[in-house]
Amino acid sequence: MKVIPVNLPGQDHSYEIVLDPGGRQRLGEYLSEVLPGRRLWLVTDTLVARLYGHDIVTRLQEQGLEVSLLTVARGERSKSWPVAARLIQQLLTQGADRGSALVAMGGGVVGDLTGFVAALFMRGIPVVQVPTTLLAMVDASIGGKTAINIPAGKNLVGAFHQPSLVLIDPQVLLTLAHRERLNGLAEVVKMGFILDAELLAFLSGPARRLWADRNLEPGELLTEIIARAAAGKAGVVAADEREGDRRRLLNFGHTLGHALEKASHFRLKHGEAVAIGMAAALDLSVARTGLPAAAAQEGKALLTGLGLPVQAPPLPPAEVLQALMVDKKKQGQRMVFVLLRRLGEAVVHPEVPLDMVAAWLEKNRGT
Ligand SMILES: NC(=O)c1ccc[n+]([C@@H]2O[C@H](COP(=O)([O-])OP(=O)(O)OC[C@H]3O[C@@H](n4cnc5c(N)ncnc54)[C@H](O)[C@@H]3O)[C@@H](O)[C@H]2O)c1
Ligand SMILES: [Zn+2]
Repeated sequence: MKVIPVNLPGQDHSYEIVLDPGGRQRLGEYLSEVLPGRRLWLVTDTLVARLYGHDIVTRLQEQGLEVSLLTVARGERSKSWPVAARLIQQLLTQGADRGSALVAMGGGVVGDLTGFVAALFMRGIPVVQVPTTLLAMVDASIGGKTAINIPAGKNLVGAFHQPSLVLIDPQVLLTLAHRERLNGLAEVVKMGFILDAELLAFLSGPARRLWADRNLEPGELLTEIIARAAAGKAGVVAADEREGDRRRLLNFGHTLGHALEKASHFRLKHGEAVAIGMAAALDLSVARTGLPAAAAQEGKALLTGLGLPVQAPPLPPAEVLQALMVDKKKQGQRMVFVLLRRLGEAVVHPEVPLDMVAAWLEKNRGT
């Protein structure tokens, strides 16, 4: 078991990230400790309910906890006003009040939605995050950002609402689809690129076999990877709870990544698009921030070796640039990019010419 403290300025909302293989079986003990005496609602999606949620709620009830299950449909569309409103209505109908609390068990969709509802309900009730995708374990569940989507765009309505606890049970990743695992792995590699060269060495060395043969084992290696990446994110958000420069480093690979996601009409998954964005950022770093060319090659080889893409999809570069232009980080014909000085050290670089990005897309366009 590993415990990562998240110490935020203003003691009242510091909390712990607990990595406990098999810990879902001990959820009752964790909840009794951090939220004693509260009536609880566990929110999840239909798949996670079937795999884990129903059993866990039954077990919690047997242990004497007052807990009910609320389920939403799978997928990004559940991060919406109508679904949030329905959850709030269900909470009211079922007697929730200021003394209640929510448990978000699922991927980033469930985590963001449940956190959002917890932030609003009765002006805010506690939420415990129990992330079940790799992406949610190392990224979405940490940092207190919650959101829903509106027609104008993703995550445009939200609130900061820190969880009371993040409980990670790596064993649940065994049931996660390979493509979803890779989706989260891109964010793990990102943490390595921006601040943890040892994590990169670990991923290209001992941990490589976990992904190479698609045969994920929920042992110490996996726990170690998740712990390092989660600790990296926790360190950044603790230093910089809202949107400051350090938190911006988390956007490594994301400027171009978001544009690729959009231009591909979301056929590329977030992690795939970010992997391509990171490959581009590695090359741009050679030109702009003095990253040795050999290090950029090493970084791209790591991505490829893990099964992540490094080539742009066969889209006209102009379409990708169009999506990039509407990005808020544009300043004239130059863009703000997060680049690397070396593997494990990132900087915010305000001056990447759009031409250079266009040239990269042209040169690295896949078929
Ligand atoms: N709040 C933040 O800081 C933050 C950061 C990054 C991403 N996000 C958000 O996270 C969301 C994406 O999260 P995601 O990638 O986890 O997607 P997701 O929540 O849609 O989960 C992906 C799929 O995996 C399934 N699943 C979840 N756990 C499983 C398990 N253990 N076994 C089998 N199947 C399982 C789900 O049912 C779903 O179909 C996006 O909405 C994004 O905006 C938020
Ligand atoms: Zn991301």
